Amino acid sequence: MEEDKKSLIDQTQTFHPSHSFASQANLKSFDEYQRLYDESINSPDTFWGRAANELHWFEPWRSVLDQSDKPNFKWFSGAKTNICYNCVDRNLETRENKLALIFEGEPGDTRVFTYRQLFDETCKFANTLFSLGIRKGDRVAIYLPLIPEAVISMLACARIGAIHSVIFGGFAADSIRGRILDSTCKLVITSDGGYRRGKNLHMKTIIDDAVTGCSSVEKILVIRRDNTSSQNVNMQEGRDVWYHEASADKLTTHESEHMDAEDMLFLLYTSGTTGTPKGIVHTTAGYMVGTYLSTKYIFDIHDSDIYWCTADVGWITGHSYVVYGPLLNGATILIYEGAPDYPNKARYWDLIEKYRVSIMYTAPTAIRTFMKWGDEFPNSKNLTSLRLLGSVGEPINPAAWLWYHKVIGGERCPIVDTWWQTETGSIMISPIPGVTITKPGSATLPFFGVDPAVLTDEGNETDYGTLAIRKPWPAMLRGIYQNPGRYVTGYWSNWGGAYYYTSDGAIKDQNGYYWIIGRLDDIVNVAGHRISTAELEGATITHPWVAESAFIGADHDIKGQALFGFVILKAGFQGSDQVRAEINEIIGRKLGRFEIPERLVFVNDLPKTRSGKIMRRLLRNIAERKELGNTSTLADPAVIDHIAEEFRKLD
Ligand code: WTA
Repeated sequence: MEEDKKSLIDQTQTFHPSHSFASQANLKSFDEYQRLYDESINSPDTFWGRAANELHWFEPWRSVLDQSDKPNFKWFSGAKTNICYNCVDRNLETRENKLALIFEGEPGDTRVFTYRQLFDETCKFANTLFSLGIRKGDRVAIYLPLIPEAVISMLACARIGAIHSVIFGGFAADSIRGRILDSTCKLVITSDGGYRRGKNLHMKTIIDDAVTGCSSVEKILVIRRDNTSSQNVNMQEGRDVWYHEASADKLTTHESEHMDAEDMLFLLYTSGTTGTPKGIVHTTAGYMVGTYLSTKYIFDIHDSDIYWCTADVGWITGHSYVVYGPLLNGATILIYEGAPDYPNKARYWDLIEKYRVSIMYTAPTAIRTFMKWGDEFPNSKNLTSLRLLGSVGEPINPAAWLWYHKVIGGERCPIVDTWWQTETGSIMISPIPGVTITKPGSATLPFFGVDPAVLTDEGNETDYGTLAIRKPWPAMLRGIYQNPGRYVTGYWSNWGGAYYYTSDGAIKDQNGYYWIIGRLDDIVNVAGHRISTAELEGATITHPWVAESAFIGADHDIKGQALFGFVILKAGFQGSDQVRAEINEIIGRKLGRFEIPERLVFVNDLPKTRSGKIMRRLLRNIAERKELGNTSTLADPAVIDHIAEEFRKLD
């Protein structure tokens, strides 16, 4: 890996920024970037204080950054604000009739909202939540397709100070239940359905299953997405409420709660190295300022833009760069509910042509999929409205970058390859469009306030090692819900607590550019989704025949990484297609169908060191069909030949 990447870096092409882009941009020159960057590192209080002053505060802060209780950093202490107020109300002054939100459903239905209409709908939603007994500090789970109510319900929670916990629509009942239990949600917001590849997803039915045993859940608020299936939705008397009924008599005004800077804004569960997902805690003011400023400069938002981030709101990208960052900048955002190949493979390009999208932000997996489908689909549509492209979620390989640049961007659009994490809240490493020289495959240079380093285990700077962040930044996580210890040990314990630990490997090249290699822990990044192998192993063991299993991620042409499972059955049981299907069914039902492995291999044993640790590197080599390398530390080297043989039998 290291050698492959190094030779790639040596041979890389560079792309120089376009002056015509820079001349109209919010940040106009590399000198300006350098000057602001230096200020953000040397005088963070001045830099972030000025950025924060572009937003609305009910009461000012006493200090910008409070480091008195490391690593429990506090930003804008003493201030009072509200992120919904800043996303919506603040824009009424100058953008009342500007479109805030354009929605297109998979069947082709559309709804649009001006900032005034978004205000009305958000207030109505906030009043409905209030009438259901939701108050500041209560946790609310949101399990919705990508429809306007997904955005509106998040904003409404923020408005009243309720903590939203959005759960991606692809998660299955057990995954949802675990999240609801951990955060003791009082309310679940869902819908009767949603569309994906022409099929209706019965989200309410999944929620009915998920909430069994969740005693904290008092009400389920159901949005009517699908008129035809609504008759069949099971509504439990006293618990389940239709949104259109509950909201019918609600006012379209609602005073925003004055939130303390460090009041919790949302929880977002993400995979960790243990079996249970962790509830990443984000708070109000720092997150607001961080997403606001990064969106302003990295996506160069102007009033004329139509901005489309293709992520689902169930992921951090959806929180920070579908909803909060763009609306804080008064942008017009597009959301699309469905699949990119429905009804045909030109659907995304059709959306860009139809709505004259000027900024597109998507994931490398999607780009590689489009590449495979062929140029004829994007070429069949007019994409000249695009002026800026973004990439996120996984390393982008140079071939995909170059295709994106040429076929989608018409060689005129800068590409911002943005590295960040659920935990970081906002983009950390990225080019500034029109300003930074780009190299395909590199996320380039740090954003303002971000002080990265590539370190050895001992904490020395190196050109290839672990990516670490030296200073706190406003949108950083404030903790793990109900688990303060895990926050400190997981993120601030390496290198004597002097750095934030990212779990990513990285290279820093001779120009100081960062190249993210990928995760160093047992998280697999499949199509930009963070999947925990420990969680998969936990689900697999619930099959009565399974004795032990190991899941790994291996390189995959389209998905970046794909999952492979190696399963040992209990004595006396035989592996078969039937058992494989049963295990996959369990994974799909408990965790979500997107976690079903590419291949599931039955084996007699797993490669273990003498101390009993599974050598995942060897399993990865088998899945990637590489030389096995050194197997001398294995307790029993013969094991590996057997596994390789069983693996190949499935070709
Ligand atoms: C990976 C998504 C390379 C990385 C915003 C990180 C990337 C994990 C990039 C976080 C990128 C994200 N280049 N790798 N531009 N962006 N990653 O929490 O491994 O879903 O640690 O946040 O995705 O995934 P998460």
